[in-house]
Amino acid sequence: MNLPITLQVNGVTHQLSIDTRTTLLDALREHLGLTGPKKGCDHGQCGACTVLLDGKRVNSCLTLAVAYQDAEVVTIEGLADDERLHPLQQAFIEHDAFQCGYCTPGQICSAVGMLNEAEAGWPSVVTTDLTADHIDLNDDEIRERMSGNLCRCAAYANIVPAIREVAESQSIPQETRR
Ligand code: FES
Ligand code: FES
Repeated sequence: MNLPITLQVNGVTHQLSIDTRTTLLDALREHLGLTGPKKGCDHGQCGACTVLLDGKRVNSCLTLAVAYQDAEVVTIEGLADDERLHPLQQAFIEHDAFQCGYCTPGQICSAVGMLNEAEAGWPSVVTTDLTADHIDLNDDEIRERMSGNLCRCAAYANIVPAIREVAESQSIPQETRR
């Protein structure tokens, strides 16, 4: 059975008529032609399909599109500000944080969501001080919080520093940022 649905994707309103069983990943890839979100496992195991849904990171392969009428979706295609890359995109390039690149859109979207979660004070299983005002995103925190995103090329040694660099730049007080 098809249902009409409206999604805001990367700032553009789309009206679709889709089968109720269509995942958000298939809606993005097959109906809207956005191939940034990747289909790795299609079972919630690899994170390659990660997008931001109403500001939170989700595995789009596990998300039924019809459940998110009028939701705001941001994919890797929507992160850059015109010609200016998102800081995480830039950091991944500068740190050579990928090989084949298949996992990269999911890694970057997940990292965007992860930084927001840390900023909001959400602890992880390795957070030692649950009362701290500020979560120090050290390598252990980054590895734990990004553990849902697998990289078959094992570029982790460069992915972690790329994310840490952006995390550190965001933790600098606003008035001292350049
Ligand atoms: S494709 Fe969604 S988690 Fe692997
Ligand atoms: S860069 Fe190839 S899977 Fe991550």
